[in-house]
Amino acid sequence: MTADDTSAPTALVEVQDIGKHYGAIRALEGVSLRVNAGEITCVLGDNGAGKSTLIKIMSGLHQHSEGVLRVDGEETTFSSPREALDRGIATVYQDLAVVPLMEVWRNFFLGSEIRKGFGPVKMLDSDRMRRTAREELAKMGIELADIDQPVGQLSGGQRQCVAIARAVYFGARVLILDEPTAALGVKQSGVVLKYTAMARDAGLGVVFITHNPHHAHLIGDHFVVLKLGRTNLDAGRADVTLDQLTQEMAGGDELGTLEHELRR
Ligand SMILES: Nc1ncnc2c1ncn2[C@@H]1O[C@H](COP(=O)(O)OP(=O)(O)OP(=O)(O)O)[C@@H](O)[C@H]1O
Ligand SMILES: [Mg+2]
Repeated sequence: MTADDTSAPTALVEVQDIGKHYGAIRALEGVSLRVNAGEITCVLGDNGAGKSTLIKIMSGLHQHSEGVLRVDGEETTFSSPREALDRGIATVYQDLAVVPLMEVWRNFFLGSEIRKGFGPVKMLDSDRMRRTAREELAKMGIELADIDQPVGQLSGGQRQCVAIARAVYFGARVLILDEPTAALGVKQSGVVLKYTAMARDAGLGVVFITHNPHHAHLIGDHFVVLKLGRTNLDAGRADVTLDQLTQEMAGGDELGTLEHELRR
């Protein structure tokens, strides 16, 4: 039932030789990846490489066509994101499932509201949710002027941080982040990287998707680079340099050709 490698600890989530096609389009082929507790696994790759497809399989949004998905060493196929969430796998999508006009605290508890009262008449315990959301965000160093502020007014980085804090609070064991720094400037990216590292330090297994080799190299324990749905590089931190990652991402030869074409 466990993976072939018996010396390694059981991964929280593991995909092995996973494949996925959408009709005639082959989005993934023969990709393997492990998510270990207290580690950050970075998935890199160009547009269309298959990064989102890979994490959608792990988060129950899509089903794989080939290969094996294991959770705690046990072979699994999720039929919905709810099932993945029930196994402790929380995903923060790039577009974020937030309601922009909704207050920060309501968004924090969206779908898991605290209620008070007896019997059939239960009311939302908004005071407690406000207080808890403020405390939990403060714990991660996120100080918001107003917890009643609409989420839409937060910066992109703050929104990512609220989503990460939310996943940690609701007991996620695995945190999947799909390009959390893609739309952010240097400073805000730094903040998101810091919270990602905090989630790791809290013992979560993190999957961090990015186009940015610098961001990956700052926090990654393990790196998987996808290209056209296949694994182009699979290496631990000790076995890869920032230069190599940059080269992989830039697509060395292609950049050379481009430089030639653009020269005037
Ligand atoms: N629902 C879908 N139906 C058909 N094809 C899809 C679907 N989702 C993804 N694809 C295709 O699968 C391939 C991989 O897409 P995917 O979104 O996983 O890439 P990505 O690495 O996340 O890219 P990006 O960096 O642009 O987000 C692409 O060729 C894409 O067009
Ligand atoms: Mg994507």
